[in-house]
Amino acid sequence: MKLWGGRFQKDTDKAVDDFNSSIRFDARMYKEDILGSMAHAEMLGKQGIIPKEDAEKLVKSLQEILQDIEAGKVSFSVDAEDIHMNIEKILIERIGDTGKRLHTGRSRNDQVALDLRMYLMEQTVQVANLLKTLTLQLVSLSKAHIDTVMPGYTHLQKAQPITLAHHFMAYSQMFMRDMDRLRDTYRRTAIMPLGSGALAGTTYPLDREFVCETLGFSAISQNSLDGVSDRDFVIELAADLSLIMVHLSRFSEELILWSSHEFSFVEMDDAYSTGSSIMPQKKNPDVAELIRGKSGRVFGSLMGLLTMMKGLPLAYNKDMQEDKEQIFDALDTVTLCLPVFTNMLSSMRVNKVQMRNGARGGFTNATDAADYLVKKGMPFREAHAVIGNLVFYCIQNEKSIDDLTIEEFHSFSTVFDKDIYDAISMEACVEGRSLPGGPAKAAVLSTIAACEAFLNAYHCSRE
Ligand code: ARG
Repeated sequence: MKLWGGRFQKDTDKAVDDFNSSIRFDARMYKEDILGSMAHAEMLGKQGIIPKEDAEKLVKSLQEILQDIEAGKVSFSVDAEDIHMNIEKILIERIGDTGKRLHTGRSRNDQVALDLRMYLMEQTVQVANLLKTLTLQLVSLSKAHIDTVMPGYTHLQKAQPITLAHHFMAYSQMFMRDMDRLRDTYRRTAIMPLGSGALAGTTYPLDREFVCETLGFSAISQNSLDGVSDRDFVIELAADLSLIMVHLSRFSEELILWSSHEFSFVEMDDAYSTGSSIMPQKKNPDVAELIRGKSGRVFGSLMGLLTMMKGLPLAYNKDMQEDKEQIFDALDTVTLCLPVFTNMLSSMRVNKVQMRNGARGGFTNATDAADYLVKKGMPFREAHAVIGNLVFYCIQNEKSIDDLTIEEFHSFSTVFDKDIYDAISMEACVEGRSLPGGPAKAAVLSTIAACEAFLNAYHCSRE
């Protein structure tokens, strides 16, 4: 018989059991469910709501069930619907009537909210740690490539020279924002809902603060209806995960382009590439492509969650059982992608010569040539026109700006002097951009220092 079977004359249809059951995907919250029940049982005993000995018996048996699950000795049943009732059923099988006292003053509605919050708190910390590892890797790569000149792009057209360190540190900024968002989401996830009951609280004198403290939450929820029906924290996490995937997919896209023959800026390690079943010469950046592709399913989870919650009346509705597969899949995807991406990056070879040549071609120093004229007194608009003409000449004659003789320079403007060559070298172009946030070595080094300080101070935990 079902734990709630008293009011029913007939068993549920087998198909409905299968349809209704969530054990297939909520079993992963077994630990949170048991820890939550242990805290609840202890509190019931402490408050004299159930006899102290019963509370102790419940806690002990729950502890044993936890160990048995972890030892692989427990199997769950679809009949018992979800992880909450599976565990309660096992408890009752083991300790009989005492087990039946556990659910006093509690509903599965506040129980599932509690379990999910606890599970997501732990997962959020895990994702944050994976991001930290990736960002540390970027910091170390940036230090190694502080002088590696490469072309910066806008519209995927060569724009101005930068360094690979500057490019990597751009991604560090994104990942630090991701870490910051996770910490913020954690803050709103660490709200303890138990005591909300089914929707209207309970008549028993529960000690909500005790449960809150015992389970490592920051504060108790302030409204019983909201306590059981809020899933903002799930959606927020899905949004955080989506942005992480946006960042990983942009980075992946660049690495895919860079490893093409046309760019040849980087080469993936053999261990992070795959071949073709027909074309013997191929070495494909499958890992980066798959990460780019997997971003879609995480965005899908976010959309699924928003759509599932939209228009739901208060308080709990069974629709909300659909939250778990979405957020679990998004979490699984991100926790799968992050370490693979980090290792792919650290094992990748950088072709510095090719990057530098890439920076030299395509007139990336044209702005600096114009700035040179401005520094000699010419108005910027005029300098822009002079260099525009000069670039056109270079294109016609298949030359780069630095290849021109001083006579050729003079034919465009007599303001040019011999020092033009130094002024438009790749190094000068990069070093000249020394404002905070710029690509010059000192500026990038201070960004790196700030990033290291952020990573050192970072922790995602309750307040
Ligand atoms: N398995 C359910 C879920 O995930 C637990 C809560 C069920 N509550 C209920 N009143 N049917 O949402």
